[in-house]
Amino acid sequence: MTTSDLKLVRTQPVDIQPKLEAQTALEPLYFARPAAQYQAFKTEIDAAIQRVLEGQVYILGPEVKAFEAEFAAWCGSQHGIGVANGTDAIHLALRALNIGAGDEVITTAHTAVATVAAIEMAGATPVFADIDAERYGLDPESVARAISPRTRAIVAVHLYGHPVDLGPLLDLATRHSLHLIEDCAQAHGALWNGHKVGSVGVVGCFSLYPTKNLGGIGDGGIVITADPALADRLRQLRQYGWVRPQHAEMPGWNSRLDELQAAILRVKLRHLDATTARRREIARRYTQALADLPLVLPGDAPGCAHVYHLYVLRSPEREALRAHLASRGIHAGLHYAEPVHVQPAYRDRFPCSLPVTERIVHDILSLPMYPELSDQDVDRVIDGIRGFYRMALAAE
Ligand SMILES: Cc1ncc(COP(=O)(O)O)c(C=O)c1O
Repeated sequence: MTTSDLKLVRTQPVDIQPKLEAQTALEPLYFARPAAQYQAFKTEIDAAIQRVLEGQVYILGPEVKAFEAEFAAWCGSQHGIGVANGTDAIHLALRALNIGAGDEVITTAHTAVATVAAIEMAGATPVFADIDAERYGLDPESVARAISPRTRAIVAVHLYGHPVDLGPLLDLATRHSLHLIEDCAQAHGALWNGHKVGSVGVVGCFSLYPTKNLGGIGDGGIVITADPALADRLRQLRQYGWVRPQHAEMPGWNSRLDELQAAILRVKLRHLDATTARRREIARRYTQALADLPLVLPGDAPGCAHVYHLYVLRSPEREALRAHLASRGIHAGLHYAEPVHVQPAYRDRFPCSLPVTERIVHDILSLPMYPELSDQDVDRVIDGIRGFYRMALAAE
């Protein structure tokens, strides 16, 4: 759905002082609650933890090997390489592709800082392109304008769980001999033209941070690729450059996934289709109930299936709406309030203007979204939003 599809009923500056004292006695609702998933799969997770504790290897052992194979297969790819976190997944992918000092990598500023940090960790220079306001992913035309003779790769971020418009990016990558790297930290299982994200570009990089659609109980990450030589390089880079114990053939890092995370992730992977279906069901409920309000709501672009890591709507009254929800114990999130290129760490070094990115960050709001939300929780959020607009329209 686009802004132009909607008649944005412009309410006057909303004169609603949220009454914090009106806090209900209800449990607070947050945009994510990873502990709920432990409760949901407690028996299986406890058994997995016990198995690891009683095993012989605690890091890079049989659980990691099995998880790597199971996750790569689930994504429709050939090789999985477990690493310490999603930032390292991108960093090591770039290094494995021999991208570093003097090279430029095009990406979005509307992402977790981690995407950009990873490019700099590899020694390369981030170059920012703008996004489209429907998928919140890289706009291919803006990417095309950012290509220079030094460009080596595009890091496309499937933000919020919706695939980027990969077709035109693949064309650009082919035409300019660039690597297309997919940052799938928020999009495990999202579909683009029938392919799971991560299996389209040369590598797919995933975070397994606890709040992610597939998340451990600590940090974790995984890279998937169909290229066996690249997979070998990644395995070497994640552990000191070793090709065998105590023998390094290239400088490497320590970026390993541990057995405890892998064992728990294997449990959650078995349920990922079901938990994703529940996210979609919650999204459907939100969308149905909010469709008549002056909001821009998320949805599937043609040929794509969203996995709703986050349900992000847009409202010109974002701040007042957010405060109204907070007064009712509903803590919506901001992803992201400050684009990377304007943050102090980057703004002086990478000055640029990204009009769409800079515009939408004022309106976006992430509603509570995790599979364990009950229908009553979802209805509470809906009632909160509808109540806000009733008051806003009455105040006009
Ligand atoms: C889009 C995106 N890329 C990369 C990362 C980095 O992942 P991690 O926190 O596991 O390093 C994240 C996690 O927040 C993310 O959301």
